[in-house]
Amino acid sequence: MRKNIVAGNWKMNKTFSEAEELIDQIFLEMEDKSFQCEVVICTPALYLEMATDYAEEGRLKIGAQNASEHEQGAYTGEISAAMLASLDIEYCIIGHSERRKYFHETNQQLAEKTDRLLDYGVKPIFCIGEVLEEREENIHFEVVKKQLEESLFHLNKDEFSNIVLAYEPVWAIGTGKTATPGQAQEMHAFIRSQITEKYGKETADEVSILYGGSCNPKNAKELFSQTDVDGGLIGGASLKSDDFLAIANSF
Ligand code: PGA
Repeated sequence: MRKNIVAGNWKMNKTFSEAEELIDQIFLEMEDKSFQCEVVICTPALYLEMATDYAEEGRLKIGAQNASEHEQGAYTGEISAAMLASLDIEYCIIGHSERRKYFHETNQQLAEKTDRLLDYGVKPIFCIGEVLEEREENIHFEVVKKQLEESLFHLNKDEFSNIVLAYEPVWAIGTGKTATPGQAQEMHAFIRSQITEKYGKETADEVSILYGGSCNPKNAKELFSQTDVDGGLIGGASLKSDDFLAIANSF
């Protein structure tokens, strides 16, 4: 059975004390409640060590938002997969559209980042998705297929089974414009069919595919009830504990 996952992507938000307050609230509000999903919080790198204290009981899992494709060395400002692993960080978002857009990350570079994370046992939450013009031109399936092929399909079956995918139509991120449940399901089913072709049905059935893009407590239930939607990658709504946990409670 594949896992349901709700992961919060805090992006570049919150000071240290605000971050501590938010994670503390989430942690406390989760007490005595059971969730039908794994709850992951991807904090800014600077706060990961603090956040790992909250992961000890297993109620929460912690993720980073980026890692270098390089092993180590003279790469000022970068954070390596080995560094994340040394803090027992379980997940790392890779290939978020904001990194592709503002930091010019390419499919090839993202393949290398994925390799480094897997070398150190950190699970990538790998983001794929088309921009608005690509959807309007009706080439969104091709775009997503290319992202999968160029960044992930060099992996062997065992390696691939450690990947969590996040389909994030770029036109839905931070815009308040969500993909309809039908649009999400259509793309998620397409992604799973590509995985089936490459790795077989067993692997495809085990891979969690999250939806991301203006997911909120109102639309989460319907999105998550789609056959091939296994949870969400949540930006804006992950910055408020009530909203985030309401989403995590939507299965
Ligand atoms: P959003 O962001 O929920 O604010 O649209 C999602 C994401 O960027 O992962």
